[in-house]
Amino acid sequence: MEAKGKKSIKVLVTGAAGFIGSRLAYELAKRGDDVVGVDSINDYYDTRLKYGRLRECGIDCNEALWKNEYKSDIFPNYRFIRLSIDDKASVDALFEMNLTTTVLHTGFTI
Ligand SMILES: NC(=O)c1ccc[n+]([C@@H]2O[C@H](COP(=O)([O-])OP(=O)(O)OC[C@H]3O[C@@H](n4cnc5c(N)ncnc54)[C@H](O)[C@@H]3O)[C@@H](O)[C@H]2O)c1
Repeated sequence: MEAKGKKSIKVLVTGAAGFIGSRLAYELAKRGDDVVGVDSINDYYDTRLKYGRLRECGIDCNEALWKNEYKSDIFPNYRFIRLSIDDKASVDALFEMNLTTTVLHTGFTI
C-alpha cells in the first residue's frame, strides 16, 4: 500500500502496544507505510490498556500468542507480532523476512 505521492517505507515499530508506539504504528499505517509492530506486552501497567490500543489499530488479539502474527482489520499494511526485542534470533528473522528499512524504537520500559 502506498500513500498518495509518497513512497511508502517498511517500518518496524517496537513497543507497538505502548502509549507512543501504538500511535506511531496507527499513523504510519494510515498514511500507507508497510508497518510491522512488535511488543512483549509486559505487565508494567495494566495490559488491558495495551490490548485496547492494539484494537484501535485493528489488531484483535486478547492474550496474544508469542511470535504469532496478527493482521489489522483496518489497515491491510499493518501486522503485529508479540515479541520481545531481547529475543535476538526472532528479531534477526523479522529483518530478513520483511526487508525493513526503518526502525522506530519505543519498546523499552525504564
Ligand atoms: N510517554 C512519555 O511521555 C515518555 C516521555 C519520556 C520517555 N518515555 C519513554 O519512552 C518509552 C516509550 O514510552 P511509552 O509512554 O510509549 O511507554 P509504554 O510503557 O506505554 O510503551 C512501551 C512498550 O514497550 C513494550 N516493551 C518493553 N520492553 C520490551 C521488549 N523487550 N520487547 C518488546 N516490547 C517491549 C512494553 O510492553 C510497552 O507496551 C518508555 O521507555 C518511556 O519510559 C516516555
